[in-house]
Amino acid sequence: MGRDCCALEDGKVLPIIDLAYQGLGAGMEEDAYGLRRVLGAVPEALVAYSCDKNFGLYRDRVGAFYIVAKNADELNVALSNGAALARANWSMPPDHGGAAVRLVLRDSKLTADWQDELDTMRARMREVRDLLAAAGQIGSLNLAPLGAQNGMFAMLALSKEQILQLREEHGIYMAGSGRINIAGLHGGNIDKFIAALGAVAG
Ligand SMILES: Cc1ncc(COP(=O)(O)O)c(C=O)c1O
Repeated sequence: MGRDCCALEDGKVLPIIDLAYQGLGAGMEEDAYGLRRVLGAVPEALVAYSCDKNFGLYRDRVGAFYIVAKNADELNVALSNGAALARANWSMPPDHGGAAVRLVLRDSKLTADWQDELDTMRARMREVRDLLAAAGQIGSLNLAPLGAQNGMFAMLALSKEQILQLREEHGIYMAGSGRINIAGLHGGNIDKFIAALGAVAG
């Protein structure tokens, strides 16, 4: 393991890793690189995994919580604490979304179909990013960096006033932080979106 993992190898920190977009960045394996690298270097870790985006099951709250422990005794302690926290927070989660994921992952044909669809979605988001990046500098707003970034969300450097103006004058909604969902854009609305950005930031 390279020196960049030394701080973790000392065992003085407990890595808590949140993986919520696997397959929507650079690819299933590629997106797990950092996680695998850290898990290869540490004796203990916690991993929160979400299937909400990569399975398109956002409102079904599907995911997993993994505990990496030094030995079986410590794992049992961590598990019983995890179970108590789960009981206090949500008690019994619904199984419908989880059951759909189970069905897909236990069938090699369905798994291959799902991975194809994920690849298609990732490629589509790449196209959207390239179209946004091609618009370049729009007044005070530079969209070019979006082309070099990955994933489902992007931050636009817009002021609160500009975000409000987009909403009220152009019917375009985004988080108050300027965060947009790349997957919400497509060939049918991206020109309108870029024109609206020109109207508020140009
Ligand atoms: C980085 C990150 N982690 C976790 C979550 C939440 O995952 P879940 O939808 O499974 O609660 C989100 C967003 O929805 C996220 O952006």
